[in-house]
Amino acid sequence: MTETKKRITIIKPDDCHVHLRDSEILKKVIKYTGKFYKRAVIMPNLDDPITNLSKAISYRDRILNSMHPNYIFQPLMTCYLTHSTIPKELEIGFSKKIFIAAKLYPSYSTTNSKEGVKNINFITHILECMEKIGMPLLIHGEETDQNIDIYDREAVFIENTLEPLRKKFPKLKIVLEHITTKESVEYVKKHNSKYLSATITPHHLILNRNHMFSKGIQPYLYCLPILKKNFHQQVLREAIASGDKHFFLGSDTAPHLHKNKINFFGHAGIFNAPSSLLCYVTIFEKMNALKHLQSFCSENGPKFYNIPVNQETITLVKKPYKILKKISIGKDMIIPFLAGKTLNWSLET
Ligand code: NCD
Ligand code: ZN
Repeated sequence: MTETKKRITIIKPDDCHVHLRDSEILKKVIKYTGKFYKRAVIMPNLDDPITNLSKAISYRDRILNSMHPNYIFQPLMTCYLTHSTIPKELEIGFSKKIFIAAKLYPSYSTTNSKEGVKNINFITHILECMEKIGMPLLIHGEETDQNIDIYDREAVFIENTLEPLRKKFPKLKIVLEHITTKESVEYVKKHNSKYLSATITPHHLILNRNHMFSKGIQPYLYCLPILKKNFHQQVLREAIASGDKHFFLGSDTAPHLHKNKINFFGHAGIFNAPSSLLCYVTIFEKMNALKHLQSFCSENGPKFYNIPVNQETITLVKKPYKILKKISIGKDMIIPFLAGKTLNWSLET
């Protein structure tokens, strides 16, 4: 693959970090993930979180029943960790290949995280079990102490929580989700471990915190971890362009109703499923790194999760693609990332 390519064929990608929600929203948003991705790691932070096996099985059924029949799609379920998670249940779910991983949300770190983990020491027995069975731990890596500056919460988490955690559980497989800072990139690179990887979102590659405050405040660009300085954005771009196998695709597509984005307390999250893959290819091209597109999108994630890479391929072509302006949900709507804008890449049909 060369940088002057007008057409690129890669193994069909997997999105290793997706919020599909439930009910009407699930039905409306899922096809955008199914169009571009064969599999997705499904985040468990529903209003009623997916905290056990039976909830995961019925949520997986609702997902499969909501998918458009044209798409062959496999949801990879995760378990929301709480202080009362039962290790045996994780073990059964993991061995039956219902759970691919468990998600650690520090309590009050992000959307629907209040039932999450207040003190990581309270889940030692759960992490011991996960380390023993080789079950990956997915981490929302931000400190929740309100005295820590919001722009520093990820870096402080690495120092105060992640580093001690990895010392205690050196063979626990960890994905540091949606990393946004130089500190995270350096931490992952430095350790160069088969037990540690990180996902990177399209919006943290395309934007920095200035974009949130241009022409007024832009609530649709509010997500967690919050957009950082341009300097960190550049480090993330260099991380993917380096072809380092520890980084892979996790879009963190996170739909919210308009009434909840534009509110006294606006919800955090960016719905990027209609364009995420096209955003990634745009950035890889900009970085002269198209040769690493396939490993980031389709190989590094499956290798970490110990699942086979997909057999299908997809082809992306250099052709303008206009992103839809909105999705109607009853009387409300969801507005996608880059709504109404045109990208230079599209999916070959
Ligand atoms: C996500 C959501 O809305 O569920 N929001 C976000 O800003 N990324 C949760 C998360 O991944 O933090
Ligand atoms: Zn997320």
